[in-house]
Amino acid sequence: MCGIFGCVLREGKAAPIIHQALKRLEYRGYDSVGVATIYDGRLQIKKDSGCVDDVHKKLDLNDLNGMIGIGHTRWATHGAPLMINAHPHTDCEGKIAVVHNGILENYSDLKAELLVRGHLFASRTDTEVVPHLIEDYMKQGFAFLDGVRETVKRLEGSYALAIIYANEPDKIVCARSQSPIVIGASDIDSCVSSDIPTVLPLTNKILDVQNGELGILTANTLNLVRISDGTPIQRDLRTITWDVELAQKQGYPHFMLKEIHEQPRCLEDAMRLQRRYIDLITTFLDRSREIYLLACGTSYNACLAAAYMFSNLCNLSTHPIIASEFIEQYGNAVNIESTILAVSQSGETADILHAIDHARFKAATILGLTNTIGSTLTRVSRAYVCQQSGPEIGVAATKTFTSQLLVLAQLALSLAEVRGKVSQERIDEFEVKLNEITHISETVINTQEEKVKAVVEKYRTAKCFYFLGRGINTATALEGRLKLLELAYVPSIAYPAGESKHGPISLIQEGFPAIFVCPKNETRKALIGNIMEMKARGAKIIAVLDEEDQEVKNLVDDYFEIPTGIPEILSPIPYVIPLQLFAYYMALARNCDPDKPKNLAKSVTVL
Ligand code: M6R
Repeated sequence: MCGIFGCVLREGKAAPIIHQALKRLEYRGYDSVGVATIYDGRLQIKKDSGCVDDVHKKLDLNDLNGMIGIGHTRWATHGAPLMINAHPHTDCEGKIAVVHNGILENYSDLKAELLVRGHLFASRTDTEVVPHLIEDYMKQGFAFLDGVRETVKRLEGSYALAIIYANEPDKIVCARSQSPIVIGASDIDSCVSSDIPTVLPLTNKILDVQNGELGILTANTLNLVRISDGTPIQRDLRTITWDVELAQKQGYPHFMLKEIHEQPRCLEDAMRLQRRYIDLITTFLDRSREIYLLACGTSYNACLAAAYMFSNLCNLSTHPIIASEFIEQYGNAVNIESTILAVSQSGETADILHAIDHARFKAATILGLTNTIGSTLTRVSRAYVCQQSGPEIGVAATKTFTSQLLVLAQLALSLAEVRGKVSQERIDEFEVKLNEITHISETVINTQEEKVKAVVEKYRTAKCFYFLGRGINTATALEGRLKLLELAYVPSIAYPAGESKHGPISLIQEGFPAIFVCPKNETRKALIGNIMEMKARGAKIIAVLDEEDQEVKNLVDDYFEIPTGIPEILSPIPYVIPLQLFAYYMALARNCDPDKPKNLAKSVTVL
């Protein structure tokens, strides 16, 4: 996730306006910053790695002339967070400048084609193919606008683009597929941005750009056309009435709720990982004698689920381990034949880095799964993969959890393929389901949120909850519990449901709420037994269940429904969503701020 902004004015300097806009967009990434303007028929560019303030201190981002310009703040995906990879990127002649938010899936093919045609590349980004491709079309005789349209027609993946051309200094061209972009219009200027809050200090008149559309902005005019055939689109400006703070949350009252709703898009991005990262990690996993899955908190719950994935798909046992326990539990056992797959959203969690130090000392191979390129974890790992969820502002991990699960499932599938542990038929079926998970998650959010609110009303004063599951959904239950206790401060208990009879059931009394994660899979029969033993002792049963499971619906007091037909190893992704919403609305019902839980920090950098 990156932030892009551009503006074209009738008078004055664009650069200071772009600089301020990039400050507001910094929540979308701060690996590098860049601005390009057009002055005197030439592009002027300043860019470097680092956050907006640091780059401004070094380069003075306001000190660029010109009434038109574009800017970018980067969350690295392709290419390290270095100056060379900072946007804007340009063509060979330095006349076309491009900023981009998104991931171009076919960039290597396009780059190979452009290299053959003599284009020279300065960066390792996917974005740089765009200015070169436009240049190439223009050399073939296309006018600038047509060259842009031909170029974006060939892009696969996600993009929000803003483009300027030194020979046509009156316009910015923008285009959209999957990544957000809006146009703002005032009496004296026009702008384009990744989000509405950044536009609001300039104007509250917004023109939405939809997927498959191209926008052309001058200081006085705004035009939209279809990318496919160039036909004009008529759309009215709308007036935004939010204040800036509400707008940063895109109309959601809290970042946590916004991030829960972002999950379908993040899952889509997690499906766009470059194959070579998955392949590299798979190679390391394949040659290890033993694999430790190392993490804390929510990321640990993802590792626990991953252990079931590797076992189910690859017949491989792994050791999920809470990082702060690693040295005590496995410190002596780990050796040159061990592999550590460390999972950390931030990539900076001290417990993980400390455990990794120890494992490196014992010559183990370190692999990483993180959301933060450039983090310490990426530096200490032999190979790493970025889950590409974009910054998570809410302290509670939500969208990063489901994306971690999806990346881990892809790794398990890839290893299963390499080891010949699954039939082609099963792989094909599984890939279909992987591609459906985005839509399924969207359905769960859309259909279950109101139900969650109603169930919260019934149980808002409960003193304690049980969260129970079996198999891979033990991890889902643990994650539901973690969300509820860290946000709503409700003491909660979670464990594999089969353990009830070994002790915890003694707490159950009339009215005690127990939440069961109950997909229709091989554990269901045993789980029904666990539901019955709780019911017999007066527990109130809430279930997250398959929408077609009438038998369990008849047994329980309340339920949340999940679309049918999800393979077991992907089930934690949709099944955790009602539990995230439950924790969020319980926090509200108990007057707790879900974005600022007590005593917690987003990234725990102390031991
Ligand atoms: O950045 P990491 O994934 O390493 O963070 C791990 C935990 O600190 C984190 O998941 C924490 O448990 C969150 N508060 C969970 O919502």
